[in-house]
Amino acid sequence: RDEPKRKQPVKVLVTGAAGQIGYAIVPMIARGLMLGPDQPVVLHMLAPMADALNGVRMELVDAALPLLRGVVATTDEAEAFQGVNFAVLIGGWPRKEGMERKDLIAKNVAIYRSQASALQQHAAPNCKQVLVVANPANTNALVLKEFAPAVAARNITCLTRLDHNRALGQIAEKLGVHVGDVRNAVVWGNHSSTQFPDASHATARAEQWEKPVRELVADEKWLREEFVVTVQQRGAAVIKARKQSSSLSAASAACDHMRDWILGTPKGTWVSMGVYSDGSYGVPEGIFYSFPVTCEKGEWSIVQGLQVDDFARSKMELSADELDEERSMAYEFVST
Ligand code: LMR
Repeated sequence: RDEPKRKQPVKVLVTGAAGQIGYAIVPMIARGLMLGPDQPVVLHMLAPMADALNGVRMELVDAALPLLRGVVATTDEAEAFQGVNFAVLIGGWPRKEGMERKDLIAKNVAIYRSQASALQQHAAPNCKQVLVVANPANTNALVLKEFAPAVAARNITCLTRLDHNRALGQIAEKLGVHVGDVRNAVVWGNHSSTQFPDASHATARAEQWEKPVRELVADEKWLREEFVVTVQQRGAAVIKARKQSSSLSAASAACDHMRDWILGTPKGTWVSMGVYSDGSYGVPEGIFYSFPVTCEKGEWSIVQGLQVDDFARSKMELSADELDEERSMAYEFVST
């Protein structure tokens, strides 16, 4: 029989691999949901707790996953980053009760500064897709970029696909259509409650026709208020319900983000990604900001020319201001 053309395995780093999101994402990657069903992978897993990490490694062996060609499970940063082709950075200092945003930034600046050195020194030279999931994701991505000057800024992104998918989910529920028939929502800004989920360019397929969501919903108040607040607050609502933050949806979104970035977005469809701002839509440069993007051949480009009205503009600015503040806080800790 004909031997199928075999792809060489690629190395995928997952930090925070023993945490909730890590535990959800490693089987997804090892089943081809991130890089395709014909792409063998070697998983590099980093976590601070050796025992828990070893447990995850044992379970991956026990799952007998044909695409999984090896596992490196380590507590050592240099070993984890060694030769990796793709990186998903989930590990970070989690927000604990009573912690201020500032405290969270201080802890994570130290972690992402160190990971930046490891990325720069040890990742494969062709490592062009690095995704930051850990919160505060946009600012962690900025710290990573600042301390890995040899890595091109466009190779680092942060996760807002979770918010994007939440937006699609809310629209699908509102219209009673399949979520796969809704596209082109936009999430602008920070992965925080100041983000602006924008349905004004989205479309949905209803009764065979693709139509603007605005027309189908026909409820401007819902689109500007309830929809926006529900998506902004969804992370908090999940924490309240589960007593821990969203994991399966975060893992699924991280897979979607990497897959579309690497393999391309479908024709006529854009997605939201946190990328280093080039000043598009009047967003200041020098921050990681969520924009609508299309991807082709492993490169993202910001979708240009979408109309932004005064309502949208003020929401977008609010989130940019928050990111500017986060950046100042991060720089404070960098210089001390
Ligand atoms: C989410 O969006 O679900 C999380 O980023 C929320 C959080 O603070 O962990």
